[in-house]
Amino acid sequence: MRTRTRIARIDATSDPHRATAVPIYQTATFAQDSATEFSQYDYSRSGNPTRHALERHLAQLEGGGHALAYGSGLAAVTAVTRLLVPGDELLAHDDVYGGSWRLFCQVLEPRGIRVRFADLSTTASATASITAATKLVFCESLSNPLLFACDLRLLARLAHERGARLCVDATAVSPYLQQPLRLGADFVVHSATKYLGGHGDLTAGVVTVRDEHLARQLAFLQNAEGTALSPFDSFLLLRSVQTLSLRLDRQQQSAQRVAEWLTRRRGIARVLFPGLAGHKTAAVHKNQASGPGAVISFTTGDDRVSKRLVENLRLFRIAVSFGGVQSSVSLPCSMSHKSIPTAARTDRDLGLDLVRLSIGIEDVRDLLDDLDQAIAIATATGDTEAAAAPLPRSLTEQTDDGDDRDAH
Ligand SMILES: Cc1ncc(COP(=O)(O)O)c(C=O)c1O
Repeated sequence: MRTRTRIARIDATSDPHRATAVPIYQTATFAQDSATEFSQYDYSRSGNPTRHALERHLAQLEGGGHALAYGSGLAAVTAVTRLLVPGDELLAHDDVYGGSWRLFCQVLEPRGIRVRFADLSTTASATASITAATKLVFCESLSNPLLFACDLRLLARLAHERGARLCVDATAVSPYLQQPLRLGADFVVHSATKYLGGHGDLTAGVVTVRDEHLARQLAFLQNAEGTALSPFDSFLLLRSVQTLSLRLDRQQQSAQRVAEWLTRRRGIARVLFPGLAGHKTAAVHKNQASGPGAVISFTTGDDRVSKRLVENLRLFRIAVSFGGVQSSVSLPCSMSHKSIPTAARTDRDLGLDLVRLSIGIEDVRDLLDDLDQAIAIATATGDTEAAAAPLPRSLTEQTDDGDDRDAH
């Protein structure tokens, strides 16, 4: 079966009434015939037919193995890191979602996990950084927000040679475009809030593994810690996943056009999109994924211009997150990546002028018109009153004091 068919076909054959869509088993408990011997399901935290149908479907999209569904992407990332013990080293790529950064530095490190960041997108740096002390290598490919690819075959080989495991957060591409388990990864995680969900109406996360022992450990933790996705959200996610390829085909076709258009538009300094030949890791990405995805980052060279641009868009909504059918825009350093300290952001070339677009399924001509008018306003010379006004605190004083109340 080809990928698009596998995505669209849900296996509901175990339903006692032969329903063709998986029903929502919105129940906390399942009655038992015996007080000492239990049937397959007894309590929804431990197991639920709707969630299991979703997990089976997600696993086969990754090319087999076992999938576990959680209440959010961060719960999924957390689940993988639960397998570390104090003293273990987590080596993470230095371009990761701000919430993962916060989890690693503010939750895991104080509890004894050694956390290190390195550029894992270049062979030399990856080879030098993964050591015998490393227990888990974590990367996003594509990374958020700079959209760099890491060579997953290389990272898997290096990790395994040195006794570590590789976890790939593939949220920005989804299993439709890339299946890291087939490239050697031990864990794949997704924020299903993004492309898998696709409609901006749920938060969910998924971990997929091939190894039976890892699957059992994760299933134990999912039950012991009560992190599983609810039956209703499992139903919503299963419903959404069926249209993943349709949505992404359209989204990435439009994204390619928008990215190329931005490279020609006056006022735009740098465009980051793996579908552009000049993108630093475009060749690596092409070698391990079947498409560039539909997130584009770009800079204007001026924080104020970027802010004005974002605020003058009409179709693109200012919103954290990405991957939905409706296009959205964000300033990562003020929003999704605000929890990363300013110095670390500066090191990683994450400037305040960085704009991230998530391309939806609208008519691309409307998206281009919208960008065109917003760029025109933002770059207009002859300062307007608004343009000359001081920037709000959130954009001028990026604090490192842990005040990340606005960071999602
Ligand atoms: C790459 C990546 N991984 C994980 C997450 C966390 O997912 P969630 O917001 O569903 O917890 C995000 C959220 O933006 C993300 O962008």
